[in-house]
Amino acid sequence: MKQLAVVHPEFEVANPASKFAVSFFGERVNFVLDDCFPEKENVVLGDHEVLVRKKGFSLNYRDLNFIMKASRHFISDNCKTAYLPIGSEFVGEVEQTGRLVTGLQKGDRVIPNWNYEEIRLLKKRKPGLTAGVASNSTSKEKEILHFRKLYKIPETFPLEVAAGFSIGAQTGMSMLRKAKLNSKSTLLVTGGSSNTSLFVLKMLPNFKYKHVYVLTSSTEKAQQLEKLNIKNATILVNTKSKDEDIDLAIVKILHNNVDAIIDPFCNIYLKKLYYLLRFNGRYVTCGIENNTLYNTPGTDTETMQLPENLLVHFIMNNISFTGNCLGTTRDLDKAVDLYLNEKLSLSNYHSLSYKNACEFLEMSYNDTNRLGKVVCMYE
Ligand SMILES: NC(=O)c1ccc[n+]([C@@H]2O[C@H](COP(=O)([O-])OP(=O)(O)OC[C@H]3O[C@@H](n4cnc5c(N)ncnc54)[C@H](OP(=O)(O)O)[C@@H]3O)[C@@H](O)[C@H]2O)c1
Repeated sequence: MKQLAVVHPEFEVANPASKFAVSFFGERVNFVLDDCFPEKENVVLGDHEVLVRKKGFSLNYRDLNFIMKASRHFISDNCKTAYLPIGSEFVGEVEQTGRLVTGLQKGDRVIPNWNYEEIRLLKKRKPGLTAGVASNSTSKEKEILHFRKLYKIPETFPLEVAAGFSIGAQTGMSMLRKAKLNSKSTLLVTGGSSNTSLFVLKMLPNFKYKHVYVLTSSTEKAQQLEKLNIKNATILVNTKSKDEDIDLAIVKILHNNVDAIIDPFCNIYLKKLYYLLRFNGRYVTCGIENNTLYNTPGTDTETMQLPENLLVHFIMNNISFTGNCLGTTRDLDKAVDLYLNEKLSLSNYHSLSYKNACEFLEMSYNDTNRLGKVVCMYE
């Protein structure tokens, strides 16, 4: 069975060519992507379980955290035979279903459903039914998942797009819903070239809004974002580092001119942007930058302090701060419908064969000019 796994540098494989190393933050991490991993024979499924054979998978920002932790742990504890399969998105085909599975049958094409809220709110949860992320090991060519973590898509849905769709689509749709836009709204989207923000920007034309400002960190990325031709959009290049305030020229454009902010990196942007929000404004965020560094010895990640002025500004202006974790099945339904009805154009996909796994990892995490999702295909 194929899978992309983090391993110890001395992990032994039959085919040495399938082992390679990639550096992240100057640290070398060893991987294997090979057919060599054992497959369970005579799989017996639980009542609600589904056996899925993957056709492709992709990685998200969050996965780097697991990659770094596993690699450090394998090296520090000298775990030479241990391996951690990675990946959090996929497209696959149903091979077998448990006795009580409804709505899915052998041969159906599926992607993960990152439904969070609705599972969290269940009074009783069956074992194996997780809220949010379906799996952190989706590169496993064969995997057993709870049927409620799977979402059926039609054959017409291209495999490459499906292999990197759910998290951006579901999270982006959920944040747009929570931003409560109307035809007079001005929206600001930070981290413009992140996959999360790209989904937001591409789904935005299906919502009412007046103008959208998009913050990005380089002229190259701004040029790529311009080419997306998002209606009523202004792309703003912020050349300042993450520890500095936003460019003054940008502040002048945005001051008291923003009704909603969608921000995937609130530990960077909240304290720099909060005062730009108008009366009744909404600040919606789904993430923090550098989650990989959390739990890294010697790295102080707990010193962020919120200015008191932020609290005063939020109180005096009736501003709401909304955290957003993933989305609902309804959010995914809406995003899939938009895509199938050609109202969501997803052209920025980079598809690589599993035989180019090293390049896949480099592009996923080390290519500073990457715009769009990088997917790794088994077929
Ligand atoms: N909780 C949830 O539901 C959920 C779901 C999805 C994603 N997220 C979070 O959303 C964030 C983005 O995830 P993603 O997968 O979309 O990421 P991604 O595609 O890897 O984002 C890369 C982009 O993020 C921006 N960025 C990266 N590091 C930065 C830094 N140090 N300072 C400023 N900007 C930086 C840059 O864009 P620019 O150069 O254009 O600024 C960069 O091109 C992460 O925090 C992730 O954990 C959360």
